[in-house]
Amino acid sequence: MDKPVEPGAIDAARGNYPALERWTYMDVAGRCILSRTTRAAVDAHLDERMMNGGDKEKFFALIERARGKFAQLINAAPDEVAYAKNISDGINMIATGFNWKRGDNVILCPGLEHPNNVYPWLNMRRYGLEVRSVKPRNGHIPVDEMNKLIDRGTRVVTVSSVTFAPGFRTDVDALGRVCRSRGVLLLVDAAQSVGVLHTDVQASNIDALAVSTQKGLLGLYGMGFLYCRREWAEKLQPAYLARFGVDLGGAHEASMGDDKFKLMPAARRFDLGNYNYVATAAADASLTELLAYGTPRIERYATKLGHALAQGFLDLGLPVSGGKPGPHLAHIVTIGAMGTNHYGTEDDRLNRLYAHLTENRVKLSIRRGVLRFSLHLYNNMDDVARVLDLTRTFLAADKRR
Ligand SMILES: Cc1ncc(COP(=O)(O)O)c(C=O)c1O
Repeated sequence: MDKPVEPGAIDAARGNYPALERWTYMDVAGRCILSRTTRAAVDAHLDERMMNGGDKEKFFALIERARGKFAQLINAAPDEVAYAKNISDGINMIATGFNWKRGDNVILCPGLEHPNNVYPWLNMRRYGLEVRSVKPRNGHIPVDEMNKLIDRGTRVVTVSSVTFAPGFRTDVDALGRVCRSRGVLLLVDAAQSVGVLHTDVQASNIDALAVSTQKGLLGLYGMGFLYCRREWAEKLQPAYLARFGVDLGGAHEASMGDDKFKLMPAARRFDLGNYNYVATAAADASLTELLAYGTPRIERYATKLGHALAQGFLDLGLPVSGGKPGPHLAHIVTIGAMGTNHYGTEDDRLNRLYAHLTENRVKLSIRRGVLRFSLHLYNNMDDVARVLDLTRTFLAADKRR
């Protein structure tokens, strides 16, 4: 067991995030704030490009370093990590890597997935893929129903590890055990968990995992990673292929082999051409920070904050999704009734609460009709207390309206 985070250590993290001087920032589920260290790594990269043009060997070393750190974060091997633009890119790499046959099916819960983990599958129907849907159950992805739907034609089951709304955790381990025993690829959209919640792809029997770096990984937009377990990656055929997906030993990047080429080992076959070096510089710096604290500690810390916030809202009589904090709840707390509106809720009182918090420099978001508060290592109990105080004042004044 690793040691719990000492308060001093997390306070040190907080001091590295200048945005906290102006915001009570509770929106990592939308996007993170950047640390000074990450910003400095980006500046150093751009300075080097501006002043010297840049050294390609150093850029490649950066790519391998960040790949290794991401692999370490999720307990994978570096070869099992490919570079991607975002989550959609990673998911499409998997979806288009299969040679679909009529009778094949994929199982998902479109009602709770982000559209970027639904459209890639609908698009595969033109190759004969059947998209099997399960309905949400009380805001949860019903993993038991997904397991029941698996049959001989099932190739892939896909879920979000934590949904973007209402923000509940999915029982990925329960799915992983069944998928592994049935030879089905389990693909996880980890947009809302990686970097905040501990992820161990081996322990959870996850075969593929897509992330982007602008949320829990504390980096920039336009950059992501795809993990694909070696055994699966080497069965898949990349739909796009370029030099970095082809194994020419240590030959120069502009070398051309003959027509009979070998694909790179494992997930490296999905790499294409030049990388997003600037966003990789950011991810490399933020991964160093995440690895230094360790995700088991960050998860415990952020979950404790999430539970305190949820309990505080409940004590104030607000409709917290999922009710009492339990195993379903981690660092994302939502209030209200799920709907379809991303600009407001059906409950005018909650719209007024949103306006009141925003006017008081709290950063949160609205997704599918619920107010969403999301936490990371740079938050603390003072943030939670401040949001609850502001809410209490608002509710008292609103009653007198
Ligand atoms: C669960 C989930 N998946 C995917 C995305 C975004 O996908 P992409 O990185 O392709 O823009 C988000 C962003 O909010 C998300 O919450």
